[in-house]
Amino acid sequence: MTNQNILELNNISFGYNQHSVLFDNLCLSLHIDDYIGIHAPNGSGKTTLFRIMTGLEIPQKGTILFYGCPVTQGAILHQLRRTIGFVLQNSDEQLFSSTVLEDIAFGPLNLGMTRREARDRALETLENIGMPEFADRPIHQLSGGEKKMISIASVLSMRPELLLLDEPTTFLDDASRSKIITLLQNTPTGRVIISHDKDFLKQTASSFVTIQNGGITKTAL
Ligand SMILES: Nc1ncnc2c1ncn2[C@@H]1O[C@H](COP(=O)(O)OP(=O)(O)OP(=O)(O)O)[C@@H](O)[C@H]1O
Ligand SMILES: [Mg+2]
Repeated sequence: MTNQNILELNNISFGYNQHSVLFDNLCLSLHIDDYIGIHAPNGSGKTTLFRIMTGLEIPQKGTILFYGCPVTQGAILHQLRRTIGFVLQNSDEQLFSSTVLEDIAFGPLNLGMTRREARDRALETLENIGMPEFADRPIHQLSGGEKKMISIASVLSMRPELLLLDEPTTFLDDASRSKIITLLQNTPTGRVIISHDKDFLKQTASSFVTIQNGGITKTAL
């Protein structure tokens, strides 16, 4: 299982309507050891690509394989979403509980853990990201940078095999950005990161791609 690609997008074509073709025969293979940075213009389809990878948009053509299984049945899609963690660009769409601990425990509870186990996992995750004192803080009181760290923690608490991060440093100051860099550098989990911040990508990814002519191509940054 480990030598197999976690996700394969084969000949994907997608447009939101017949007048806009975003992807045309796009192919992408991801392994759990990959650290990939995506750097592409506004509106080129980066977020859409993540949505396709997590089954939130259905391509008009092509196949998606999760560990070799076509993502067509609900059961595989369910498994994919438990295994691939998607950190949304907008933290306010990611965080919905009233406290930090509840938000981070939500994923583990969904994985079938007991309340006690989920709470312990959430506390451990907060400890790992260096924010144990935030457990009882109300979400609405957090700063943008704190919300981003807690968003990442809410995904890490499910121990994903691959992380998808959509512009994790947008609107963050240098100190918060540095914290995200350190957190990612200390997290061995494979990742795909969308960012317009080339320096950030260089510190958190090891290969770089862009979206061009409806497909994915390697880029030097
Ligand atoms: N639900 C939707 N319905 C119709 N068009 C959409 C929808 N979502 C996105 N689009 C369009 O698809 C294109 C790609 O959008 P997407 O959000 O994937 O781009 P992006 O590369 O993530 O851009 P950004 O860098 O600004 O975040 C854009 O032209 C956008 O307007
Ligand atoms: Mg986007």
